[in-house]
Amino acid sequence: MHIHKYEKYWLVFGIATLVAFLVIVGVGAFHQGSHPNNGKKTLDYEKVREHEIFSNPGVHKVEGKDWDYEVVVLASAFNYEPPVIEVPLGAKVKFIATSADVMHGFEVAGTNINMMLEPGYISEYVTEVNKVGEFLIVCNEYCGTGHTMMHSMLKVVDSNESHK
Ligand code: CUA
Repeated sequence: MHIHKYEKYWLVFGIATLVAFLVIVGVGAFHQGSHPNNGKKTLDYEKVREHEIFSNPGVHKVEGKDWDYEVVVLASAFNYEPPVIEVPLGAKVKFIATSADVMHGFEVAGTNINMMLEPGYISEYVTEVNKVGEFLIVCNEYCGTGHTMMHSMLKVVDSNESHK
């Protein structure tokens, strides 16, 4: 079978592009850990306020786990509970969040915290907060007329400073 020279070039180019693309996706998924919510943990969103975790949204200090704080966030049209999250600098924090109604976002501007909150699914993210400041939390999934008004705040405080 005879393959034309340009056809060969084109095949090589096509295969190289495919390989390059798979490498980029693979590095992103396996090395940088970017992947969608695995959806393993579910709950009955209509009874979310009776749920063992989500009946008590807020910042909770925990002992004997791989992280120091658990931040439980319940999103609903068009607000977040708690309205303000305050954690100390350097803390390892696990964010545990869900939605009580429709799909919402949970993006902490200026950080790499960014989760999609789906009713019936628990989204989790563990991170270390190592920048002092106030970070705006915004909803980045269109959720209705109040979508643009939906926000809260993450405050990272240096506890050594505030006690002086
Ligand atoms: Cu909630 Cu957009």
